[in-house]
Amino acid sequence: MIKIAPSILSADFGNMARDIEMLNRAGVDYIHCDVMDGMFVPNMTFGFQMISAVKKVAEAPLDVHLMIQQPERYVERFAEAGSDIISVHAEATNHLQRVLKQISGCGVKAAAVLNPATPLDMLNYVMDDVDLILLMSVNPGYGGQSFIPAVLGKIAELRKMIDATGKEIELEVDGGVTVGNCKTIIDAGANVLVAGSAVFNADDPAGAVKLLRG
Ligand code: DX5
Ligand code: ZN
Repeated sequence: MIKIAPSILSADFGNMARDIEMLNRAGVDYIHCDVMDGMFVPNMTFGFQMISAVKKVAEAPLDVHLMIQQPERYVERFAEAGSDIISVHAEATNHLQRVLKQISGCGVKAAAVLNPATPLDMLNYVMDDVDLILLMSVNPGYGGQSFIPAVLGKIAELRKMIDATGKEIELEVDGGVTVGNCKTIIDAGANVLVAGSAVFNADDPAGAVKLLRG
């Protein structure tokens, strides 16, 4: 079963509750929240206050993607704000395994994220510590960028690594996912698709959510 996680980065920030209610009606699986600090990525978005506000309206679990340097500084606050999944970039911390343990210690699902150019080897020794792995298929920072085709092979390789563990680790892909390429991404082995512009810029966002399931 393919899960769809619309990214509120492409929502209307002045009408966030209205947009979340639309996602509730569309029956989305997760709500993807992109937290950016202007350091790890060249853009800034929002922090825990937005997560708490979204939590009050959202029916689906919150999938919180931290694009911040040293995420270990803020894990507890994002957990308290209502995150259901917290993902941290391997490139943003010196102690990936420790941060993943910190997240699960808060009762939140722990996820590791890799940028497009970061090798899968980074995950070799943390497979026991993750509930989900997020592969970036664009360089993070902005919505509406194009999917990087080289990531398809990476998805397929990671699918093999996950299957070899015998554990139910989710494989999420983020960036440039569209109705046109979702089937290829699913066929490569992803089971959770993030989609920002493909949902929010569609004439019929709920219809786009259905089509993205492949
Ligand atoms: C990029 C973010 C993505 C972004 C995806 O830095 O992590 O979640 O919102 O947007 P689209 O689907 O438009 O590429
Ligand atoms: Zn994201």
